[in-house]
Amino acid sequence: MINSWKFLLRSDLPKNSLQQLNFSVFGLGDSSYEKFNAMAKKLTQRLIDLGANLFHKVGLGDYQHDFNYEGEFDPWLNNLWQSMNKVLVGKFINLGDIPEDKLLPPIYKVEFMDHVAEENYSTLNQLPPPNGAINKQVYLSKVIKNTRITAEDHFQDTRHIVLDNSQQNKYDPGDIVMIQPKNNPKQIQEFIERYGLKPNQLLKIKVDLEQLGQICSTSVIQFPEEGIKVEELFEYWLNLMDPPSRYFVKILSFFVEDKQRAEKLKEFASKTSVITFFFICFQEGKSEYHRYCIRERRTIPEVMLDFLVTDQFPLAYLIQLAGRQRPREFSISSYHQKVPNEIHLTMAVTDYTTKFKRHKRGVCSSWLSEQDAEKTKETVPIWLEKGTMKIPPIKDGKTYPIIMVGPGTGVAAFRSFIQYLAQYPDQEIVLVFGSRSETKDYYYEDEWKQYPNLKLITAFSRFQDDQKVYVQHKIRDESDYLSKLIIEKQAHIYVSGRAKNMPKSVEKAFIEIIQKHYPDLNALEYVMKARKNGQYQQEVW
Ligand SMILES: Cc1cc2nc3c(=O)[nH]c(=O)nc-3n(C[C@H](O)[C@H](O)[C@H](O)COP(=O)(O)OP(=O)(O)OC[C@H]3O[C@@H](n4cnc5c(N)ncnc54)[C@H](O)[C@@H]3O)c2cc1C
Ligand SMILES: Cc1cc2nc3c(=O)[nH]c(=O)nc-3n(C[C@H](O)[C@H](O)[C@H](O)COP(=O)(O)O)c2cc1C
Repeated sequence: MINSWKFLLRSDLPKNSLQQLNFSVFGLGDSSYEKFNAMAKKLTQRLIDLGANLFHKVGLGDYQHDFNYEGEFDPWLNNLWQSMNKVLVGKFINLGDIPEDKLLPPIYKVEFMDHVAEENYSTLNQLPPPNGAINKQVYLSKVIKNTRITAEDHFQDTRHIVLDNSQQNKYDPGDIVMIQPKNNPKQIQEFIERYGLKPNQLLKIKVDLEQLGQICSTSVIQFPEEGIKVEELFEYWLNLMDPPSRYFVKILSFFVEDKQRAEKLKEFASKTSVITFFFICFQEGKSEYHRYCIRERRTIPEVMLDFLVTDQFPLAYLIQLAGRQRPREFSISSYHQKVPNEIHLTMAVTDYTTKFKRHKRGVCSSWLSEQDAEKTKETVPIWLEKGTMKIPPIKDGKTYPIIMVGPGTGVAAFRSFIQYLAQYPDQEIVLVFGSRSETKDYYYEDEWKQYPNLKLITAFSRFQDDQKVYVQHKIRDESDYLSKLIIEKQAHIYVSGRAKNMPKSVEKAFIEIIQKHYPDLNALEYVMKARKNGQYQQEVW
């Protein structure tokens, strides 16, 4: 992907190099980010600049839309075939929607092997590497320490997790670990049982190349050739804990015997969101699907059990439609040379209640947080990935001053930065940390005191009753000191943490303080340039 994009950007490409290309783009963006769908827009512009023909309007999917991407996707898709038929006139078969009642064959073939797996049989070592993984071979780790670092009575459960790295896989400050999570075992055991399967049944799952050609799917999973155990397939390989897609419920409807239930599923899958009948407005189809599946975060097993479709639903469709479980990324919060046999994480447990008061917990964070480090035998498959933030090279024991802004778990990467920089006592380091309260969620408070060259600036948002204090306020409070470091000593700025408004507010604060103390400078331009040349870096999620 990166290579293709770099190639497209080459300045020596002739302006008409893509004049044979007809294209359209649908972006998967999120309008809460500063650069909404920037990649889709840039790609469109670049292809046009190279002479390609935009045959159908660009779609800008928005994760914030009430119907997520589908809000924009449905209208974008509506006229796609007509537009495509126009440009392909005489060149291709007539394209159109697949008829509603046509069931396409699955892309996988599943064969039940005639023997069951032995007790220790596992194919987790064959989990394919996710995009961006440095180590192509998965490393099978485990939790060796699990400590709660928020007060017991605090609403947020945050953990300091230590993973085994006895193979001494090397990582740099700012790097990321990707973890293949295990789906909730209780829900999975019940699902396997209701599916009428044995947990140790061995399956051979192959891609049906004939079908694949027709469907043109990019996310095909290569399963182990010697066979995979049902339990492992359901627990680690398949993304069963997310809500099923609309296409999933549509396919499901073909296998429900009860007519009413099948109709309901078809309705969920329909593109209609609101219908009016004699001036009365009915919400239906898409809205109901969103209310029932997405907003309530109903998992695939929950939906299938609600609609009493389990053993009738061919496994091949389940595998295709659920897809691969996504590895979760975490900033590594340790410095490799300090703890070569370990990888540390600073992990907030995802825990929330839906509108209809259903208690939900994040797949990966709840699984790791529930492990008793003394006893656990759970395998934690991991890969390493390069992070986006990098410390500038050190010369004569020093580099530019480092200003790190890491509210909440955003501090994770900076713990690794600080441990690394501890070997350079002349190095200037500033950490701006933010959380709710000094007594409940001040992560690693005692550790920071061990570093004499670390200047700590804290923002506790619930400290004062009348006004919430966030990291951006503290940056303004320390404007004299920080702006001097940035302008006179070219301090490098790093921002990390959960996205929402934080990165924007922090950037605004830096622009403001630079402008205040250096009125002759164009602070906005300065920060934009710093973003480009690496003086201002961020890792947000
Ligand atoms: C580069 C990068 C670095 C990261 N580093 C860290 C880190 O250092 N520490 C850390 O803790 N996390 C980090 N994360 C986040 C982490 O990868 C996971 O996304 C997070 O732990 C949740 O995963 P999960 O499997 O527990 O939850 P999932 O099962 O994936 O559930 C998360 C989903 O639940 C839903 N949800 C969550 N809260 C609510 C709510 N209140 N209401 C309704 N729905 C909700 C949302 O749809 C959300 O997408 C990082 C992410 C990235 C991309
Ligand atoms: C690290 C990170 C950076 C992102 N940056 C942008 C961005 O600049 N513009 C944008 O429109 N969406 C951005 N997104 C949002 C994604 O495109 C996507 O809408 C969102 O992550 C939800 O999809 P998911 O559930 O597959 O993660 C970003 C997401 C992540 C995790």
